[in-house]
Amino acid sequence: MNLYDRIPNNVNLSEDKRLQRALEKWLPNFLSWWHDMGPEGFQTKDVWLRTAVDVGSEGWAHFDYVKMPDYRWGIFLEPAEADARVGFGDNYGAPAYQEVPGEFRNSLRRIIVTQGDTEPASVEQQRQLGHTCPSLYDMRNLFQVNVEEGRHLWAMVYLLHGYFGRDGRDEADALLERRSGNPDKPRILEAFNQPCDDWLNFYAFTMFTDRDGKYQLSALAESGFEPLARTCRFMLTEEAHHMFVGDTGLSRVVKRTAQLMKQNPNEDVRALGGIPLDIVQKYINFWFSYSLDLFGGEISSNSADFFAAGLKGRFKEQAQYTDHVAADGSFTMMVVENGKLAPREVPLRNALNEVLRGEYVKDCEKGLARWNKALADEGLQQRLYLPSIRFHRHVGAYAGHQFDLEGNLISREEFEQKKSEWLPTIADREYVRSLMKPVTEVGKIANWIAPPATGIKGKPFEFEYVRL
Ligand SMILES: [Fe+2]
Ligand SMILES: [Fe+2]
Repeated sequence: MNLYDRIPNNVNLSEDKRLQRALEKWLPNFLSWWHDMGPEGFQTKDVWLRTAVDVGSEGWAHFDYVKMPDYRWGIFLEPAEADARVGFGDNYGAPAYQEVPGEFRNSLRRIIVTQGDTEPASVEQQRQLGHTCPSLYDMRNLFQVNVEEGRHLWAMVYLLHGYFGRDGRDEADALLERRSGNPDKPRILEAFNQPCDDWLNFYAFTMFTDRDGKYQLSALAESGFEPLARTCRFMLTEEAHHMFVGDTGLSRVVKRTAQLMKQNPNEDVRALGGIPLDIVQKYINFWFSYSLDLFGGEISSNSADFFAAGLKGRFKEQAQYTDHVAADGSFTMMVVENGKLAPREVPLRNALNEVLRGEYVKDCEKGLARWNKALADEGLQQRLYLPSIRFHRHVGAYAGHQFDLEGNLISREEFEQKKSEWLPTIADREYVRSLMKPVTEVGKIANWIAPPATGIKGKPFEFEYVRL
């Protein structure tokens, strides 16, 4: 097999023998990780998958049946811009960095490793879900997300191997050694150590946690380190489908729940094998709060340093802002002072995690509006909502304090008392798991979820997305 068939790429890999050797050495380790930690079962089945083959606006992907271990995890960067410049920070307007600037080397490596670690982590979290899929359509989407997270790992490993020498290679190896949820060698970020073992978790994860990915990648797509910017721009193309899976998945659950509520005189969907809205709300509370943590502390010297260095920008930095230096702005946020919430003004650059988090929250609210429309369309009065950004936080200014769903400061005792109303209990999780019986007949769907409005890439829902 020639090099391009083994590692499809648009980075002229065949002309860089050193990099090629490094990646070819890493490839079998990646495959053995995929074998051990990738989706369990189904590895020998034909799955109708899209594979990235180019970066052009039309025809960047190819759809066909592929066995997952034969998927071609390629390396694709968006084309370079002529005369690219650092788009923000203290070096605003300087030529973009084509190599890693020595003084930013550690920061950049940390940014890339942290992003890279999330990609295999999510595959590990989702590895059992194939056994309980609600339809072949959903099973295919799960595997699509999984193989593309594998490709995102390749994207980050390319940067580590290509630009960081020895320590980059060591970091690339470590990305295959950590394990989601393993207390001895956990993944770096906590949301990626939480179990994702039922399909309600999966939809909430792809809605909220993959959406964090969108915002991190968008901020890095602005980076003055051009290889990182170009890599992240292309990753965003694939990420859109992951969020689609979560957003529409939850929408379909909500729709089905609403239909079942109308069928039972007491609106008791458990009696009819559906997922009650209060459980859906608890899963939202859980994954939204863990995903908020991924943006980092509200007041952060790292965010200021990364921005000053031109490494990590704001969401749509070029399109949305005119002042790209942001040296003297300020930002007011609520913090806990003397046992009370009080406003604090901080330099804007130190508040950029919170600024990015705010963009993310706005985006999540659009999802909630869609799900609430599904409820309204079915004639129901009940509504779902996002909890306060202060609720159930483990990172940043609100960690270590307790808040209710509206964001009011409460005591630990009050929180413990209310916890079972706000977050999934063991009984809730067991109930959801009890519904997770696989449905693998072409065109059939589990009782607890509505079918999708359309299939994938012009195919109907009644298509053999996975040949079992
Ligand atoms: Fe990803
Ligand atoms: Fe993703």
